[in-house]
Amino acid sequence: FDKKVDMSPLEKGKGYYVNYKRIDDNLKVVRSRLNQPLTLAEKIVYGHLDQPETQEISRGNSYLKLRPDRVACQDATAQMALLQFMSAGLPTVAVPSTVHCDHLIEAQIGGAKDLARAIDINKEVYDFLATCTAKYGLGFWKPGSGIIHQIILENYAFPGGMMIGTDSHTPNAGGLGMVACGVGGADAVDVMANIPWELKCPKVIGVELKGKMSGWTTPKDIILKVAGELTVKGGTGAIIEYKGPGVESLSCTGMATICNMGAEIGATTSVFPYNERMGDYLRATKRADIADLAKGFQKNLLPDQGAEYDSHLEINLSELEPHINGPFTPDLATPISKFAEEVKKNDWPEELKVSLIGSCTNSSYEDMSRSASIAEEALAHGLKTKAKFTITPGSEQIRATIQRDGIMETLENAGGMVLANACGPCIGQWDRTDVPKGEKNSIITSYNRNFTGRNDANPATHAFVASPDLVTAMAFAGRLTFNPLTDSLKGADGKEFKFSDPSGKELPPRGYDAGENTFQAPPEDRASIEVAVDPKSDRLQKLEPFKPWDGKNPTDCPVLIKAKGKCTTDHISAGGPWLKYRGHLQNISNNCLIGAINEVNGKANEVQNVFSGEWGPVPATAISYRDQGKPWVVIGDENYGEGSSREHAALEPRYLGGCAVIVRSFARIHNTNLKKQGLLALEFQNPADYDKVRGDDLVDLVGVTEFAPGSIITLVAKHKDGSKDEIPLTHSYNENQIGWFKAGSALNLMAAEAKK
Ligand code: F3S
Repeated sequence: FDKKVDMSPLEKGKGYYVNYKRIDDNLKVVRSRLNQPLTLAEKIVYGHLDQPETQEISRGNSYLKLRPDRVACQDATAQMALLQFMSAGLPTVAVPSTVHCDHLIEAQIGGAKDLARAIDINKEVYDFLATCTAKYGLGFWKPGSGIIHQIILENYAFPGGMMIGTDSHTPNAGGLGMVACGVGGADAVDVMANIPWELKCPKVIGVELKGKMSGWTTPKDIILKVAGELTVKGGTGAIIEYKGPGVESLSCTGMATICNMGAEIGATTSVFPYNERMGDYLRATKRADIADLAKGFQKNLLPDQGAEYDSHLEINLSELEPHINGPFTPDLATPISKFAEEVKKNDWPEELKVSLIGSCTNSSYEDMSRSASIAEEALAHGLKTKAKFTITPGSEQIRATIQRDGIMETLENAGGMVLANACGPCIGQWDRTDVPKGEKNSIITSYNRNFTGRNDANPATHAFVASPDLVTAMAFAGRLTFNPLTDSLKGADGKEFKFSDPSGKELPPRGYDAGENTFQAPPEDRASIEVAVDPKSDRLQKLEPFKPWDGKNPTDCPVLIKAKGKCTTDHISAGGPWLKYRGHLQNISNNCLIGAINEVNGKANEVQNVFSGEWGPVPATAISYRDQGKPWVVIGDENYGEGSSREHAALEPRYLGGCAVIVRSFARIHNTNLKKQGLLALEFQNPADYDKVRGDDLVDLVGVTEFAPGSIITLVAKHKDGSKDEIPLTHSYNENQIGWFKAGSALNLMAAEAKK
């Protein structure tokens, strides 16, 4: 296993090899220290430790310094990450890295035209990314190439590897046995700059799969069920490790679907043990050498006998029903047999307006061929879809292959519209016209996320998530109460028919068709490349470093907003039309916290300026405080900042003059992002103290001057009526992270260290 095998066929001759030797060497050291059987997750994570001899290893407690094998960024997050990398003044990225243009393409009338429009509209961003990647040595995937996670699976993921990606569904690569974590752009900048990546030593949740799937049950149903069991917070701080005999009945792409959606339960990542299905997929994607190497290294790509897990879940695949999750949250799981009843009971709109299949979660050849088998049967009975039906291929390779094999034609004949190989409606890039904003309606997708307004910016849209099989079958019924396992539909001839069990092919029998070449490798000679940033641009703006801490305890800070209930990164920094300003901090800050619900009046984007008494939008109020030199705080509820990894949700409050975000509990990535940008990320020691802070308080933070790992900071809430509450706050900063706070940001500290 210490042969030199390229990490990817696209990086031949670059000296980037699969480094199993390091894993083996590291594990020898770690085993001698821990002297206990290891889970697979531990083997991969500890196999990437920067200093295995001295690193403190304590699951759920210590912070690990890690050396990931690679980095990937999508175009929305890459802009800020690359702007940050540029400002650090380094000549080239330290590990193989790629940028993928997938988030900025709006679905309107279909693939080719939507793509052409996006290339036109986003030209300055694409030009910046193309030149910046070329200059600093990153691979660049052009618009139309596909969705980041699908391309990673097809070209870069490998068993036992570790990567970070600036997108929360990076764990998709766990389907190929990789520990792949979604991070903020600031973490990506660290790794690209050869600084170890810091991660709280993850706990490990074991999910034992027993039995065998059949019929309408798909890998998606495993994760929908797990999401229902563990809820959106259940995976926080943990890697979900799948194991057991049931793993054998899953395709590699099916395992990727499961890992992808592990993000929905807040897991650090999810991972599967090496098996032959991974080998088959590697061979089908021109990586037989990696498959052979992994086979020879299998002992370290499986858990040890007797390895201990922090918690355990068991799923019997033979009994698992297809599930539908939603609306508004991915952990509201309902088995199909109970779903019609729930639709009626909850008054969810029964008519199904749109069925959407594909995305990074479910657009494998297997998924598409199974959907086509359902469509073929409906077509044979003279039916077309009743609901609108869209298909999003995950990559150009998938698009070309399903087109060659007639799958696309079947789906189109049934009434489907094939969208560009991009995120599209999954991230709100959807020019939806069939339902007016505000009108209650239902859609169902094979995507992963269904928070309010995510797909179409209509808060009244009830979005459900299910397997592509159910999404396709329901498109023909046009109603949510249809259960294809038990109900029949009327064919054009008036005769009733029931769908057969879907069937598909795991891998294309004629191999994959790569389609158009959409990859730009970094050139050898990069000295003459100029990075394109127009100073007049309203979409890209070079970054100015944040000011360092002034050495004092913050006092008399207004509460900008006391956010109530769910406050995801979508609420803090909305997507959709705002995506266009991802590279321009000043402009995008106009969306700061506009989706958060103000506890004081129950409204979004309406807060009272405590000094003037005027009510106004959140960003304008923040700017007013900043311009008066008044640092402000945000009060938040549970799992604050869950959802996507966007660091704008941390950059914006910092840019607008915030000094602290104080919550009942944080989602992991957002917590780290706030720390990176030099904000104080604090938690109520007693979550009930959330109720003691009022929206019109001025607060002091006492103890920042003694900031140390494990220290307590006291929030003094000074109420309008003259009374006060003293509230203890905890934090999870270590020494190094306190250095970020003091320097003003992690990047400031990094730039200072690079200069030394
Ligand atoms: Fe894109 Fe949706 Fe996946 S936004 S990366 S298709 S989760």
